[in-house]
Amino acid sequence: MQTVHGIDELRAVVADWRQAGLRVGFVPTMGNLHAGHLSLMTQCGGLADKVVASVFVNPLQFAPDEDYDSYPRTLAADSALLAGVGVDLLFAPPASAIYPRQGEESTRIHVPELESELCGQFRPTFFSGVATVVNLLFNLVQPDIAVFGEKDYQQLLVLRRMVADLHMPVELVGGAIVREPDGLAMSSRNAYLSDAERRNAPALHQALQQAAADIRAGDHDYAAIAARAMQGLQAAGFRPDYFSVRRAADLRAPGAADQDLRLLAAAWLGKARLIDNIAI
Ligand code: PAJ
Repeated sequence: MQTVHGIDELRAVVADWRQAGLRVGFVPTMGNLHAGHLSLMTQCGGLADKVVASVFVNPLQFAPDEDYDSYPRTLAADSALLAGVGVDLLFAPPASAIYPRQGEESTRIHVPELESELCGQFRPTFFSGVATVVNLLFNLVQPDIAVFGEKDYQQLLVLRRMVADLHMPVELVGGAIVREPDGLAMSSRNAYLSDAERRNAPALHQALQQAAADIRAGDHDYAAIAARAMQGLQAAGFRPDYFSVRRAADLRAPGAADQDLRLLAAAWLGKARLIDNIAI
Protein backbone atom coordinates (compact mmCIF):
# COMPACT_ATOMS: atom_id res chain seq x y z
CA MET A 1 0.00 0.00 0.00
CA GLN A 2 1.21 3.45 -0.93
CA THR A 3 0.64 6.40 1.43
CA VAL A 4 0.45 10.02 0.27
CA HIS A 5 -0.10 13.19 2.28
CA GLY A 6 -0.10 15.77 -0.51
CA ILE A 7 -2.72 16.59 -3.11
CA ASP A 8 -0.31 16.59 -6.08
CA GLU A 9 0.98 13.10 -5.20
CA LEU A 10 -2.58 11.82 -4.83
CA ARG A 11 -3.61 13.24 -8.20
CA ALA A 12 -0.53 11.76 -9.91
CA VAL A 13 -1.21 8.21 -8.68
CA VAL A 14 -4.91 8.33 -9.55
CA ALA A 15 -4.22 9.90 -12.97
CA ASP A 16 -1.98 6.92 -13.85
CA TRP A 17 -4.73 4.48 -12.89
CA ARG A 18 -7.35 6.34 -14.89
CA GLN A 19 -5.09 6.42 -17.92
CA ALA A 20 -4.78 2.65 -17.61
CA GLY A 21 -8.59 2.44 -17.68
CA LEU A 22 -8.90 1.21 -14.10
CA ARG A 23 -12.02 1.68 -12.01
CA VAL A 24 -11.25 3.69 -8.86
CA GLY A 25 -13.10 3.10 -5.58
CA PHE A 26 -12.95 5.38 -2.56
CA VAL A 27 -13.72 5.03 1.16
CA PRO A 28 -13.35 8.23 3.20
CA THR A 29 -12.83 7.92 6.97
CA MET A 30 -11.71 9.90 9.97
CA GLY A 31 -9.38 7.08 11.04
CA ASN A 32 -9.19 5.15 14.32
CA LEU A 33 -10.33 2.27 12.19
CA HIS A 34 -12.35 -0.75 13.33
CA ALA A 35 -13.95 -3.73 11.60
CA GLY A 36 -16.86 -1.55 10.40
CA HIS A 37 -14.52 0.66 8.39
CA LEU A 38 -12.55 -2.32 7.12
CA SER A 39 -15.70 -4.06 5.84
CA LEU A 40 -16.27 -1.01 3.59
CA MET A 41 -12.72 -1.32 2.23
CA THR A 42 -13.30 -4.99 1.40
CA GLN A 43 -16.67 -4.21 -0.18
CA CYS A 44 -15.07 -1.45 -2.24
CA GLY A 45 -12.32 -3.83 -3.37
CA GLY A 46 -14.99 -6.11 -4.84
CA LEU A 47 -16.44 -3.23 -6.88
CA ALA A 48 -13.33 -1.44 -8.13
CA ASP A 49 -9.86 -2.19 -9.53
CA LYS A 50 -8.11 0.17 -7.11
CA VAL A 51 -9.17 1.26 -3.62
CA VAL A 52 -8.28 4.64 -2.14
CA ALA A 53 -8.91 5.19 1.58
CA SER A 54 -8.64 8.59 3.22
CA VAL A 55 -7.96 9.31 6.88
CA PHE A 56 -8.82 12.91 7.68
CA VAL A 57 -10.40 14.29 10.86
CA ASN A 58 -12.47 17.01 9.24
CA PRO A 59 -12.59 20.16 11.39
CA LEU A 60 -15.56 21.50 9.41
CA GLN A 61 -17.94 18.85 10.77
CA PHE A 62 -17.18 19.47 14.45
CA ALA A 63 -18.94 22.25 16.38
CA PRO A 64 -16.71 24.34 18.68
CA ASP A 65 -17.91 22.41 21.77
CA GLU A 66 -17.38 18.97 20.16
CA ASP A 67 -14.50 16.49 20.28
CA TYR A 68 -12.30 17.63 17.35
CA ASP A 69 -9.16 17.97 19.49
CA SER A 70 -9.66 14.73 21.41
CA TYR A 71 -10.87 12.63 18.44
CA PRO A 72 -8.50 9.61 18.41
CA ARG A 73 -5.72 9.91 15.82
CA THR A 74 -4.03 6.53 15.24
CA LEU A 75 -2.51 6.75 11.77
CA ALA A 76 0.20 4.09 12.21
CA ALA A 77 -2.30 1.45 13.37
CA ASP A 78 -4.82 2.54 10.71
CA SER A 79 -2.20 2.23 8.01
CA ALA A 80 -1.36 -1.36 9.01
CA LEU A 81 -5.07 -2.31 9.05
CA LEU A 82 -5.68 -0.77 5.61
CA ALA A 83 -2.68 -2.57 4.10
CA GLY A 84 -4.04 -5.81 5.58
CA VAL A 85 -7.35 -5.53 3.69
CA GLY A 86 -5.73 -4.73 0.35
CA VAL A 87 -6.22 -0.97 0.12
CA ASP A 88 -3.99 0.37 -2.67
CA LEU A 89 -3.57 3.99 -1.63
CA LEU A 90 -3.94 5.80 1.70
CA PHE A 91 -4.51 9.55 1.48
CA ALA A 92 -3.80 11.19 4.86
CA PRO A 93 -3.60 14.95 4.30
CA PRO A 94 -2.90 17.60 6.94
CA ALA A 95 -5.78 20.04 7.58
CA SER A 96 -3.70 22.82 6.00
CA ALA A 97 -3.70 20.98 2.64
CA ILE A 98 -7.47 20.53 2.63
CA TYR A 99 -8.35 23.99 3.98
CA PRO A 100 -5.44 26.27 2.99
CA ARG A 101 -7.27 29.50 3.82
CA GLN A 102 -7.07 29.33 7.62
CA GLY A 103 -9.39 31.59 9.56
CA GLU A 104 -11.46 32.40 6.49
CA GLU A 105 -14.84 30.92 5.56
CA SER A 106 -14.46 28.63 2.54
CA THR A 107 -17.12 27.43 0.10
CA ARG A 108 -19.69 25.12 1.70
CA ILE A 109 -22.21 22.60 0.45
CA HIS A 110 -25.70 22.57 1.94
CA VAL A 111 -28.25 19.82 1.40
CA PRO A 112 -31.53 21.47 2.35
CA GLU A 113 -34.12 19.69 4.52
CA LEU A 114 -32.14 16.48 4.97
CA GLU A 115 -29.29 18.29 6.74
CA SER A 116 -31.68 19.76 9.33
CA GLU A 117 -33.53 16.56 10.29
CA LEU A 118 -32.72 14.18 13.17
CA CYS A 119 -28.99 14.55 13.93
CA GLY A 120 -29.10 17.91 12.12
CA GLN A 121 -31.40 19.28 14.80
CA PHE A 122 -28.77 18.62 17.43
CA ARG A 123 -25.68 19.22 15.28
CA PRO A 124 -26.82 22.02 12.93
CA THR A 125 -23.51 22.45 11.06
CA PHE A 126 -22.54 18.76 10.95
CA PHE A 127 -23.98 17.59 7.60
CA SER A 128 -22.87 20.71 5.79
CA GLY A 129 -19.35 20.01 7.09
CA VAL A 130 -19.59 16.38 5.91
CA ALA A 131 -21.04 17.24 2.48
CA THR A 132 -18.39 19.92 1.95
CA VAL A 133 -15.44 17.66 2.75
CA VAL A 134 -16.83 14.69 0.81
CA ASN A 135 -17.39 16.91 -2.23
CA LEU A 136 -13.83 18.20 -1.86
CA LEU A 137 -12.40 14.68 -1.46
CA PHE A 138 -14.38 13.48 -4.49
CA ASN A 139 -12.82 16.34 -6.51
CA LEU A 140 -9.36 15.21 -5.44
CA VAL A 141 -9.77 11.43 -5.82
CA GLN A 142 -12.31 11.48 -8.68
CA PRO A 143 -13.58 8.00 -7.82
CA ASP A 144 -15.97 5.97 -9.96
CA ILE A 145 -17.59 4.55 -6.83
CA ALA A 146 -17.51 5.40 -3.12
CA VAL A 147 -18.69 3.29 -0.18
CA PHE A 148 -20.33 4.70 2.97
CA GLY A 149 -21.64 2.82 5.99
CA GLU A 150 -25.33 2.55 6.79
CA LYS A 151 -24.27 3.09 10.41
CA ASP A 152 -24.46 6.80 9.50
CA TYR A 153 -27.70 6.38 7.58
CA GLN A 154 -28.63 10.06 7.45
CA GLN A 155 -25.10 10.89 6.25
CA LEU A 156 -25.50 8.36 3.43
CA LEU A 157 -28.80 9.96 2.34
CA VAL A 158 -27.38 13.50 2.56
CA LEU A 159 -24.47 12.44 0.34
CA ARG A 160 -26.73 10.60 -2.12
CA ARG A 161 -28.80 13.77 -2.47
CA MET A 162 -25.68 15.90 -2.98
CA VAL A 163 -24.40 13.56 -5.69
CA ALA A 164 -27.79 13.53 -7.44
CA ASP A 165 -28.40 17.30 -7.20
CA LEU A 166 -24.90 18.20 -8.42
CA HIS A 167 -24.82 15.45 -11.11
CA MET A 168 -21.55 14.17 -9.69
CA PRO A 169 -20.13 11.28 -11.74
CA VAL A 170 -19.75 8.87 -8.83
CA GLU A 171 -21.83 5.90 -7.70
CA LEU A 172 -22.52 5.73 -3.95
CA VAL A 173 -22.81 2.31 -2.35
CA GLY A 174 -24.06 1.61 1.19
CA GLY A 175 -22.29 -0.88 3.48
CA ALA A 176 -24.05 -2.90 6.19
CA ILE A 177 -23.59 -1.94 9.85
CA VAL A 178 -20.92 -4.00 11.61
CA ARG A 179 -21.75 -4.71 15.26
CA GLU A 180 -20.01 -6.00 18.36
CA PRO A 181 -21.19 -9.50 19.44
CA ASP A 182 -23.64 -7.88 21.91
CA GLY A 183 -25.25 -5.75 19.18
CA LEU A 184 -23.56 -2.39 19.80
CA ALA A 185 -22.74 -0.76 16.45
CA MET A 186 -18.98 -0.35 16.14
CA SER A 187 -17.84 3.25 16.41
CA SER A 188 -14.62 5.09 17.17
CA ARG A 189 -16.55 6.97 19.86
CA ASN A 190 -17.36 3.74 21.79
CA ALA A 191 -13.90 4.21 23.32
CA TYR A 192 -15.36 7.14 25.31
CA LEU A 193 -17.57 4.69 27.30
CA SER A 194 -16.62 3.57 30.81
CA ASP A 195 -16.77 -0.19 31.51
CA ALA A 196 -20.21 0.13 33.11
CA GLU A 197 -21.50 2.28 30.24
CA ARG A 198 -20.10 -0.15 27.70
CA ARG A 199 -22.08 -3.00 29.32
CA ASN A 200 -25.21 -0.84 29.11
CA ALA A 201 -24.64 0.44 25.56
CA PRO A 202 -26.36 -2.42 23.63
CA ALA A 203 -29.68 -1.18 25.10
CA LEU A 204 -29.80 1.33 22.22
CA HIS A 205 -29.80 -1.40 19.59
CA GLN A 206 -32.24 -3.43 21.71
CA ALA A 207 -34.66 -0.46 21.80
CA LEU A 208 -34.49 -0.25 18.00
CA GLN A 209 -35.09 -3.99 17.69
CA GLN A 210 -38.06 -3.84 20.07
CA ALA A 211 -39.64 -0.96 18.13
CA ALA A 212 -39.02 -2.77 14.83
CA ALA A 213 -40.70 -5.89 16.23
CA ASP A 214 -43.72 -3.82 17.33
CA ILE A 215 -44.06 -2.31 13.85
CA ARG A 216 -43.69 -5.69 12.16
CA ALA A 217 -46.41 -7.00 14.50
CA GLY A 218 -48.79 -4.35 13.13
CA ASP A 219 -48.38 -1.39 15.51
CA HIS A 220 -48.42 1.77 13.37
CA ASP A 221 -48.65 4.35 16.15
CA TYR A 222 -45.12 5.55 15.44
CA ALA A 223 -45.28 8.49 17.87
CA ALA A 224 -46.20 6.18 20.75
CA ILE A 225 -43.53 3.66 19.75
CA ALA A 226 -40.89 6.41 19.74
CA ALA A 227 -42.10 7.86 23.05
CA ARG A 228 -41.91 4.42 24.70
CA ALA A 229 -38.40 3.90 23.39
CA MET A 230 -37.27 7.35 24.60
CA GLN A 231 -38.63 6.57 28.07
CA GLY A 232 -36.96 3.16 28.10
CA LEU A 233 -33.61 4.67 27.12
CA GLN A 234 -33.89 7.33 29.80
CA ALA A 235 -34.70 4.67 32.39
CA ALA A 236 -31.59 2.77 31.23
CA GLY A 237 -29.38 5.80 31.90
CA PHE A 238 -29.19 7.28 28.39
CA ARG A 239 -29.89 10.90 27.46
CA PRO A 240 -31.64 10.36 24.12
CA ASP A 241 -31.53 13.12 21.48
CA TYR A 242 -34.17 11.43 19.31
CA PHE A 243 -35.79 8.12 18.45
CA SER A 244 -37.78 8.27 15.24
CA VAL A 245 -39.57 6.18 12.64
CA ARG A 246 -38.97 7.59 9.15
CA ARG A 247 -39.37 6.74 5.48
CA ALA A 248 -36.15 4.99 4.46
CA ALA A 249 -35.85 6.81 1.13
CA ASP A 250 -36.03 10.44 2.30
CA LEU A 251 -36.33 10.42 6.13
CA ARG A 252 -39.76 12.07 5.97
CA ALA A 253 -42.47 11.13 8.47
CA PRO A 254 -44.17 7.96 7.19
CA GLY A 255 -47.79 7.81 6.16
CA ALA A 256 -50.02 4.78 6.70
CA ALA A 257 -49.18 3.40 3.24
CA ASP A 258 -45.40 3.66 3.60
CA GLN A 259 -43.73 0.24 3.94
CA ASP A 260 -40.04 1.00 3.48
CA LEU A 261 -39.17 2.40 6.92
CA ARG A 262 -36.04 3.11 8.91
CA LEU A 263 -35.83 3.53 12.67
CA LEU A 264 -33.14 5.93 13.76
CA ALA A 265 -31.88 6.92 17.20
CA ALA A 266 -29.19 9.01 18.85
CA ALA A 267 -28.52 8.99 22.58
CA TRP A 268 -25.80 10.14 24.92
CA LEU A 269 -24.30 7.64 27.33
CA GLY A 270 -21.76 9.38 29.55
CA LYS A 271 -19.39 11.26 27.24
CA ALA A 272 -20.32 9.27 24.13
CA ARG A 273 -23.06 10.20 21.69
CA LEU A 274 -24.17 6.88 20.17
CA ILE A 275 -26.19 6.63 16.97
CA ASP A 276 -27.79 3.57 15.46
CA ASN A 277 -30.55 2.60 13.04
CA ILE A 278 -32.39 -0.40 11.74
CA ALA A 279 -34.39 -1.19 8.60
CA ILE A 280 -37.99 -2.41 8.70
P1 PAJ B 1 -16.05 7.83 10.12
O1 PAJ B 1 -16.91 8.01 11.31
O2 PAJ B 1 -14.60 7.53 10.30
O3 PAJ B 1 -16.69 6.70 9.23
C1 PAJ B 1 -16.14 6.38 7.97
C2 PAJ B 1 -17.10 5.43 7.27
O4 PAJ B 1 -17.23 4.24 8.04
C3 PAJ B 1 -18.52 6.03 7.16
O5 PAJ B 1 -19.05 5.74 5.88
C4 PAJ B 1 -19.27 5.31 8.26
O6 PAJ B 1 -20.66 5.21 8.02
C5 PAJ B 1 -18.59 3.95 8.23
N1 PAJ B 1 -18.79 3.21 9.49
C6 PAJ B 1 -18.52 3.64 10.75
N2 PAJ B 1 -18.89 2.70 11.66
C7 PAJ B 1 -19.40 1.66 10.96
C8 PAJ B 1 -19.95 0.39 11.32
N3 PAJ B 1 -20.06 0.00 12.57
N4 PAJ B 1 -20.37 -0.43 10.31
C9 PAJ B 1 -20.28 -0.04 9.01
N5 PAJ B 1 -19.77 1.14 8.61
C10 PAJ B 1 -19.33 1.98 9.57
O7 PAJ B 1 -18.31 9.13 8.63
C11 PAJ B 1 -17.26 9.72 8.70
O8 PAJ B 1 -16.09 9.15 9.21
C12 PAJ B 1 -17.08 11.13 8.19
O9 PAJ B 1 -18.27 11.85 8.37
C13 PAJ B 1 -16.62 11.20 6.70
C14 PAJ B 1 -17.65 10.59 5.76
C15 PAJ B 1 -15.26 10.50 6.52
C16 PAJ B 1 -16.44 12.69 6.30
O10 PAJ B 1 -15.53 13.32 7.11
